[in-house]
Amino acid sequence: MQTRKRRAERLKNIKASAIRRLFRLGKQMPNVISLGIGEPDFIPPPHVLEAVKQAMDDGKTHYAPSDGILELREAIAKKFSHDYGIFYNPEDEILVTVGATEAVSLALQALINPGDEVLIPNPGFVCYEPAVLIAGGTPVSIPILERDCFKPDIENVISLITSKSRVIIINSPNNPTGSVFSYDELAELGKLAVENDLIVISDEVYEKIIYDDAKHYCSSTFPGLRERTIVVNSFSKTYAMTGLRVGYAVGPRDLISAMLLVQQFTVACVDTVAQYAAIAALEGPQDFVSTMVSMFDKRRMLVYRRLNEMEGIRCTLPNGAFYAFPNVKEFKRSSGELSELLLKEAKVVVTPGSAFGRYGEGFLRLSYATSYEKIEEGLDRLGRAIERF
Ligand SMILES: Cc1ncc(COP(=O)(O)O)c(C=O)c1O
Repeated sequence: MQTRKRRAERLKNIKASAIRRLFRLGKQMPNVISLGIGEPDFIPPPHVLEAVKQAMDDGKTHYAPSDGILELREAIAKKFSHDYGIFYNPEDEILVTVGATEAVSLALQALINPGDEVLIPNPGFVCYEPAVLIAGGTPVSIPILERDCFKPDIENVISLITSKSRVIIINSPNNPTGSVFSYDELAELGKLAVENDLIVISDEVYEKIIYDDAKHYCSSTFPGLRERTIVVNSFSKTYAMTGLRVGYAVGPRDLISAMLLVQQFTVACVDTVAQYAAIAALEGPQDFVSTMVSMFDKRRMLVYRRLNEMEGIRCTLPNGAFYAFPNVKEFKRSSGELSELLLKEAKVVVTPGSAFGRYGEGFLRLSYATSYEKIEEGLDRLGRAIERF
């Protein structure tokens, strides 16, 4: 059967995620330590779990409104006022989504015409490029280079803008590099978006996972951006709620209503029980988040120190998220080969930088969203294997 022909043309350049492949391979082997997957190893705080049970007991098992339960949209609006002093109307400027992944997809499907160009960070979160292609757009890579501390070089971004450029995706704190863009860096990107009439999709899922004196700035608070920015966020990382699948998008009414149209006819609504859990997460005590981040911080310093002690590896100190992105170019192997070798020889899953785009080649991504002890053991194994290479 000619299965290839049955697929839509726009899928032809989309490959399955290398992260899942390695993760699966690792699962099939005994005694493997995974530094591969990007989700907190914590379980959500008790009041969130309690809200799930309560919602079930109360029979909240029916469809929710397509844009999300009003109480949740109100809690999201309150969060933006509290955190950033910016007002979003819960009536028509907030959309609850199936995680940030769906929010990005919806935004692109709602905005993109065939051939429109979307500027995406490279290396960048694995969903951006496929989401652009599925929406019928053309992804254009913004190189995120080690020499620029894994931030976009503004002159370079300017040179990539054409008459077809329509959207720019910004992701800070950043996956996979762990960089956090400064106020000035975001302001420059914002100015560029205004001058070139670009819509900004700002993926801020790691907003609370930052270290040292790094500060997170919400993109829509910059001059001229409120009206052209869709801020995407999620409960997955901040509250360790990855499997509950709740996220959201906030933005100007015309863009959010276009996204709602797509949402209505694709998923209809987000899981009702999970939305009650999300309300509890936002309205309940927030100490869970700071405790989790301080644990990530200890692991971050361990990974950073130990990687830099290994011969042939150079690692920039990450300021956000829970990833280290070491340079492994000295090993003269592709990052894909090196990851497979490390899985075989060291029984440690790491993600090849190339999984995040071609500018990620020569790097590995190590997630430190696993216990301190496992990370220590994983690094011991990596160190021993690397000495042998
Ligand atoms: C930058 C970024 N955006 C979005 C997501 C997806 O989040 P969600 O679970 O809310 O779909 C991830 C998950 O790894 C991510 O790293």
